[in-house]
Order: sequence, then structure tokens, then C-alpha cells
Amino acid sequence: MSQKYVIGNWKLNPATVSDAAALATSLPANDGCTVGVVPSLVHLSAVKSALADGILLGVQDIAYKTAETGAFTGDVSACQVADIGATFTLVGHSERRQYHGESDEILSAKIANAFTHGLSVIYCIGETKDEYERGETFGVLKNQLAILKAFANQADADIAKLIIAYEPVWAIGTGLTPTFDEIEKTHHFIKDELTAFGMTTPILYGGSVNDKNAPNFAKSDVIDGALVGGASLKTDSFTAIIHAFS
Ligand code: G3P
Repeated sequence: MSQKYVIGNWKLNPATVSDAAALATSLPANDGCTVGVVPSLVHLSAVKSALADGILLGVQDIAYKTAETGAFTGDVSACQVADIGATFTLVGHSERRQYHGESDEILSAKIANAFTHGLSVIYCIGETKDEYERGETFGVLKNQLAILKAFANQADADIAKLIIAYEPVWAIGTGLTPTFDEIEKTHHFIKDELTAFGMTTPILYGGSVNDKNAPNFAKSDVIDGALVGGASLKTDSFTAIIHAFS
């Protein structure tokens, strides 16, 4: 059986460092699948100290102008988060694309910066509701995946550090999901696109994953895990999702 991943994207939650540390402390060590959490940058150190051994720490974003240090007010670099102990970063989450206008150029620079400092990348892609209803999902994903081609000739070590998260925008935080068949078909499509670039990467599903639907997603050979938002803020739900993929 292939390696499965359950990653909790805490987004802009919780409000206090003590609540973030308490949530981190409440998560059980688990060796049945790879588990990671992605807290707010300001909570990174506290969460790292509170996490059980083996749970990975990631960040939601890194600077794109430089991988290291420099005159970039307000930015946090790949170098800095790697120094604190983060081992991966999200890139291309729809909330970054939507609220921060992140272009393909910016996303490519972030991926390159992450690799420079040995950070793995979870590259998020997904269609909007309108695009889904117009039957444009594969075309949208194809365009979003195109930037990865530039990384195809990098060292195998870098390629191994890339993970895709398919997150339909209309499924995020809505309680809606595509059908199981639709998700499987889309994961096959993503896999084929990446194969054409010479890449083999895990493909996670994200968008309203919870303790009820996770066992079904976990049955699929082409769903390599879940990127979880809201349910990752509740210890019981997140723990149940981890168990489903273990
Ligand atoms: O990155 C995870 C995400 O966007 C899904 O959020 O709340 O629908 O699980 P949610």
C-alpha cells in the first residue's frame, strides 16, 4: 500500500498562541500515515515544541522574492521557516490565489525558493464552482499544473519533495464535495499530466474532508491522503481522519 498523508491546514486559526499549542499537544503520535500540521507563522515555534515526535510542521506561505534574507518588509523566507523546523510549505492555495493575486510567476518562484532550502511543497490546485459547472475542471487543472514542468529536470530529490493537493474551490469550507468517482477521475487526470512531465507525486484531496467522509476517500488507490481545513481544528475529527488513512 502506498504512503498516505493527512495534513491539517489551520489557516488563520486559532486566535492565541496558547490555543495553538494546546491543539498541537492534543494530537496523537501516529505511525500509520504521514501527519503534518500547518499553523500560522506566528505560532510556528510554540506548535513545534508542543507536537508529538513524528508529526511534521509546515507553513502556509513563504516569500517569493528570495529564499533567504533581504529587504522585503513583511515577508518570511524559506530559509527562516526551515531554520525553525518547518519541513514543507503550501503553495498555490486558492485563498492565496484569490486574496493575494498570486500569479504563476509568483507560485513558481515560491516552489523554487522552497526547494532551495530543502522544504517540500504541497502545490494546491482546483477549479471554481463556475468552472466545474461549465465542465472546465481538467482544463483549469492542466493550466495550474503547467508551471511544474519547469521543475521536471531538477534533481530527483526535489521531485520527491513535491505533493499535489486537489482542492475544488467550491468544496472548501462548504460541506460539499465532488463525488468519489469524480475525485478519482480527476486524480487520474492529474497523475497522467504529471507523468507526461516525468513526475510521480502523491496526490491529496482537500475540500470539506471530515471524519464521516474520510473513510470512503481512504479506500481509493489514487487518493494519497487529505489536506484538511476546518476539521483539523478539532482534535477528535482530525484524529479520526488520521486513523481512516492509517
Ligand atoms: O487547505 C485545506 C482546505 O482549503 C480545505 O478546507 O475547511 O474545507 O477542509 P476545509
